[in-house]
Amino acid sequence: MLDRIENLRSEAEAAIAAAAGAGALEDLRVQYLGRKSELTAILRGIGELPAPERGPVGSAANAARQSLEAAIAARREELEAAELERSLLEDVIDVTLPGTSPVAPGHLHLLTRTRREIEDVFVGLGYRVMEGPDVEHDYYNFTALNHPPGHPARMTQDSFYVDPGSLPEGIRVPAWAVARAPAAPGREAEEPAGPGALLPPGPKDVLFRTHTSPMQIRAMESQEPPIFIVVPGTAYRRDTIDATHSPMFHQVEGLAVGEAISLADLAGTLQEAARALFGPDRETRLKPDFFPFTEPSVQVDVSCMACGGSGRLAGGGRDPLCKGTGWIEILGAGMVDPNVFGFVERFGYDPERVQGFAFGMGIERIAMLKHGVPDLRMYYENDLRFLEQF
Ligand code: DAH
Repeated sequence: MLDRIENLRSEAEAAIAAAAGAGALEDLRVQYLGRKSELTAILRGIGELPAPERGPVGSAANAARQSLEAAIAARREELEAAELERSLLEDVIDVTLPGTSPVAPGHLHLLTRTRREIEDVFVGLGYRVMEGPDVEHDYYNFTALNHPPGHPARMTQDSFYVDPGSLPEGIRVPAWAVARAPAAPGREAEEPAGPGALLPPGPKDVLFRTHTSPMQIRAMESQEPPIFIVVPGTAYRRDTIDATHSPMFHQVEGLAVGEAISLADLAGTLQEAARALFGPDRETRLKPDFFPFTEPSVQVDVSCMACGGSGRLAGGGRDPLCKGTGWIEILGAGMVDPNVFGFVERFGYDPERVQGFAFGMGIERIAMLKHGVPDLRMYYENDLRFLEQF
């Protein structure tokens, strides 16, 4: 009997070592250790053996079963490891390979790239980038920017007004702000409804912002001086679309306010920006202009990038880009009007103490000048022959 057990064990061990897969291994387990196996029959029959044989046969059979169970487990591990090794070698996915796109990948729109370039220039000068709402309250878009009642931009033929009732939560302004404002057309000056009270907008109080300048006020309400920000964003006006106008366009607003900021700082900052955007040889000049929220107001010109400022083309003809003047207008700017600080005085902007400058430029225009884009409509037509050039 002991010999038989020994034979079974060595026969099974050899078979297990040779098993080629998980299935074969399971068959061997059933064959040698299953309910109907010979080893199980031997263990069951121990009681019927003569007494002296029971001990030796029982321990030999149990030892054989344990060693076969261990051999099967070890072989299973070996087979699984080999399987893993094989799949690692064969099912290779190189995640470092570049993906192949079914269509050629796109790139950022020229206006987005130009916006980011402008942001980078000012971030490099220590400015922060802020953004604000496209749908704006009259108070921020006009009143607090010192637009007097009756200013043409306030008229419905110049701006897009929105029915305040159509807005999800209505746009509200603090009662103090409305009380502080000179009566806007369509709204009588109101008594403050109590500190902190919010007034629902009237029918002509909500519009698509006509410039990014309202963020000057919102930024100053949210942060004490000194403040150095640029605000990229979309603006809207009732214009028909042509080569130089669009009812929707983009601007970058700038605001710098502190205790010792002068027109010279404005000139230096914008000269630096013009050179960063249009090349290190550009000169800039300031000309008088008018904006309600700056005093004095200036127009900033840059020396023409096509003719270098001479007004003449290489062949001797008049440069059409600058119309022979050698200068190109790039933006509006000025020293913040003390009246504007009056609207944000309670936020730390004492008109007697702080000064600053503001500027606003059109992103479409900057990109047109930088890249020779002849017609503003090209930005919005999604024609790949145009977009792919940049
Ligand atoms: N908001 C003006 C516009 O849309 C542009 C502008 C001019 C902004 C002068 C300024 C500024 O901040 O100082 O036409």
